[in-house]
Amino acid sequence: MTGKETLNTNKERLYRPPVEGDARTQESPVARKVCIVGASGKLGRYMVRHALDRGYEVVGVCREKSVGKLDAFEGRITVVPGATNDPEVIKRAVAGCDGVLVVLVPWGVHGYSTGTAQAVLDHAPVGARLVFSCGWHITRDGRDVYSWKLRTFARVFGPLARLARFADVDDQVEACRRVFASDRRWTVVRGSDLEEGESQGLPVWSRHVGDPILASNITRRVDFALFMVAALENEELVHEAPAIVGCRTPSALAHAAASEGSTSSPISVY
Ligand SMILES: NC(=O)c1ccc[n+]([C@@H]2O[C@H](COP(=O)([O-])OP(=O)(O)OC[C@H]3O[C@@H](n4cnc5c(N)ncnc54)[C@H](OP(=O)(O)O)[C@@H]3O)[C@@H](O)[C@H]2O)c1
Repeated sequence: MTGKETLNTNKERLYRPPVEGDARTQESPVARKVCIVGASGKLGRYMVRHALDRGYEVVGVCREKSVGKLDAFEGRITVVPGATNDPEVIKRAVAGCDGVLVVLVPWGVHGYSTGTAQAVLDHAPVGARLVFSCGWHITRDGRDVYSWKLRTFARVFGPLARLARFADVDDQVEACRRVFASDRRWTVVRGSDLEEGESQGLPVWSRHVGDPILASNITRRVDFALFMVAALENEELVHEAPAIVGCRTPSALAHAAASEGSTSSPISVY
């Protein structure tokens, strides 16, 4: 352990009795351990909060210069500083974890996303649940149907961002391609446009962008994080790439109203 790491010694939190919504049960009273890769970002910090609320022991990985962004959690999480695409950093951080939540971002032009995904795929413990974040632009089977607005944005932003050496969308595409090809217990959560605000509850999802339930194209960031953390315990999401949208958005509510009284699942459509 380096001097910059903070050891979680908050036993009161780890051993408090389980409450409704906890990942723990009476039969397994000890908190399970999750690693959050990219913990210092907005999505990452929301995930840390949800994971702690659910009684998980949390290890966070973030760039050295961003460690201070996790000060609010001091004493409650272990922080492993370092580049998230550094296999040695990831190997150390994911040791003994039951789940790994990974923020995949396209920033930079040096394969940061791909390196991050590969390091997690290579070093996460066998059987661990792996949950990756990305956006709707990632497609698993090519059957997503995108609006002209999204297509235009991708056509313009992608080349421009790469030209400016600011971001490389293809890096995130390659990262997800490797995840999809892996036989690990993965889920790739594809976020719509995001907004800040109070939680509205667990987002709804579909396998394909273009499904009417997703039409509103907006999710609270705090709820994106909620979906990521909840996916750790949801076997239905293993080897799925759910595209999500806020559960209180007009398109989600319209779907709920249409399926009221039917036996279909209230939280997912295919
Ligand atoms: N923003 C959106 O509207 C949107 C929409 C759909 C899906 N998503 C997905 O949501 C996830 C998080 O998005 P977010 O907007 O909420 O961002 P975020 O949580 O703020 O995450 C940004 C992450 O990128 C890291 N980062 C920033 N600049 C970097 C660089 N130059 N090199 C390497 N890492 C860098 C940050 O680390 P530091 O803390 O160290 O800076 C942080 O971990 C991503 O998977 C994204 O694809 C976002």
